[in-house]
Amino acid sequence: MPEWISKRIFNQQSFWANVAAKGKPALFILGLYPLARWFWLGWHDQLTANPIEFLSRSSGTWALVCLLITLCISPLRQMTGHSAFIRWRRMCGLFTFFYALLHALAWAWWDQGFFLSAMVQDIIKRPFIAVGFAAFLGLAILAFTSTHRSMRVLGRHWQRLHRLVYVIAIAVIVHYWWHKAGKNDFATVSIYAVITLFLLGWRVQHWRLRRLETKTKQAYR
Ligand code: HEM
Repeated sequence: MPEWISKRIFNQQSFWANVAAKGKPALFILGLYPLARWFWLGWHDQLTANPIEFLSRSSGTWALVCLLITLCISPLRQMTGHSAFIRWRRMCGLFTFFYALLHALAWAWWDQGFFLSAMVQDIIKRPFIAVGFAAFLGLAILAFTSTHRSMRVLGRHWQRLHRLVYVIAIAVIVHYWWHKAGKNDFATVSIYAVITLFLLGWRVQHWRLRRLETKTKQAYR
């Protein structure tokens, strides 16, 4: 694309605001894709030879994918310089919680028959389940405090609380890694781990640059 055209399009203040506003419904439909796919596969009897294992794993994977998309929103805002993308963050976070909830329910129902004592035993016995459970509790806290009302009530503590998402991301990778360690199969989980580390590294770098900027401004005041 010639430079004058791209400049004209991308430099417009309203361009990113438009993308952010119009992209939200598209993102919502995209978020429902995994659910629609499971129904489609179920309807056509294609949920593999082991549907329980397939749904249990698939829901965990989609929860992780949604979590990583949520973590992409801040870098996207910083790269475009447009805060309108923040509108997407809550929706992506809620989709993360939704798929994590289905994943947890699959385990509670199909693995543990909804017996509380069996669930507690499994959490105590298998460390990878304990880590997944901790990550799930963290996601539940973030989902229930994602409302405007919670933002108002918690004030500046809200942002601090929502930094929990970084700990959750690491916990989910540990959960996934531990699960695959039993099978000595680290190929896919390594890709997710690298993406997660990249996204967390981006934030660390951003914070360091901002601190440096503030210090420089203070020095020249
Ligand atoms: C109550 C909390 C959780 C429990 C009890 C749990 C349980 C499990 C179990 C039993 C598996 C193995 C599934 C199988 O081999 O059939 C698994 C795998 C997995 N879980 Fe979780 N999990 C929890 C939370 C989470 C959360 C919060 C996430 C992501 C946000 C997550 C992501 C994954 C992923 C990516 C896998 C690997 C899927 C694969 O093998 O392809 N889990 N989890």
